[in-house]
Amino acid sequence: MQTSLRGRERECALLDGLVGAVRDGQSRSLVLRGEAGIGKTALLEYLIGSAPDLGVVRAVGVESEMELAYASLQQLCAPLLDRLERLPAPQRQAMEIVFGLSSGAAPDRFFVGLGVLSLVSEVAEERPLLCVVDDAQWLDRASALTLAFVARRLLAEPVGLVFAAREPGEELLHVPDLEVLGLVNGDARALLGSAMHVPLDGRIRDTIIAETRGNPLALLELPRGLTSTQLAGGFGMPEASTLSSRIEESYVRRLETLPEHARRLLLVAAADPVGDPLLLQRACERLGIALSAIDETGGLLALDVRVTFRHPLARSAVYRAAGGQ
Ligand SMILES: Nc1ncnc2c1ncn2[C@@H]1O[C@H](COP(=O)(O)OP(=O)(O)OP(=O)(O)O)[C@@H](O)[C@H]1O
Ligand SMILES: [Mg+2]
Repeated sequence: MQTSLRGRERECALLDGLVGAVRDGQSRSLVLRGEAGIGKTALLEYLIGSAPDLGVVRAVGVESEMELAYASLQQLCAPLLDRLERLPAPQRQAMEIVFGLSSGAAPDRFFVGLGVLSLVSEVAEERPLLCVVDDAQWLDRASALTLAFVARRLLAEPVGLVFAAREPGEELLHVPDLEVLGLVNGDARALLGSAMHVPLDGRIRDTIIAETRGNPLALLELPRGLTSTQLAGGFGMPEASTLSSRIEESYVRRLETLPEHARRLLLVAAADPVGDPLLLQRACERLGIALSAIDETGGLLALDVRVTFRHPLARSAVYRAAGGQ
């Protein structure tokens, strides 16, 4: 498939191969692994875009829901639950309890695992199925264990199970992985150039690329709003964790330039992990914030079927900035 992603030929070819295998009736599982902003979600979008003929179910790990058993699995399986009745009774009952469709004692994890396995296999009989789990570092443990079990047990079913994680939990360690690395050479230069309004001196450009280690989000976000003198100083950020916090800092700088009501809207949105537009609207009504302030958030927040931040680090920046108030 054509892609606007730079420098990801190898990764895209691997994902093409995965989709091809699933189309041919084989199961595949994969963890895309790499630091914040390196381009994992972008690759998942490529994957989904390259498989319009496959069924797709998705889940996103949510940091504030890590303590809620099966929260992420519920997201993933919700569109499939109409097939529950086809499952053997013990699996069906276990699934009904964990998804809150009936009450009862916490079921045996094994039955839940088998239930999910049966459910995806059943659905995949009609059409090959991709299960896509982003931000898997924030999966609740019960979901992570169940999905790892499913990844292990899938055999000749047309099911692809693809995770993206900054640092995968130990549950996913046996799943084949692909480390996503920074962009290099012309790709990094081109991406940085696309984010700059003024031409950059070649040496400064190379320093920035070296210091961001080709992290796409850093290349796109960090130079924004910096003067050429500041840029000439380089960023000086050796550690991956520092890189994330520098990206957050650049979002905080952008927040500071926004009008007060736009900042308050961002904070309200950051407090809702699900991104439910109705919820945001109600909260805004109560607080007397116009929802139209979304247009003044400088693109940090978008409203579609869901409320989405430009990037998870934009959301954490909003939190951090509010903490200091
Ligand atoms: N290869 C690429 N070419 C061009 N742009 C890219 C590429 N990879 C990522 N980007 C852009 O960089 C930004 C960060 O990428 P992305 O959100 O996929 O990172 P991530 O690895 O999912 O980070 P996180 O762990 O924080 O979720 C996005 O705006 C994305 O569109
Ligand atoms: Mg991501």
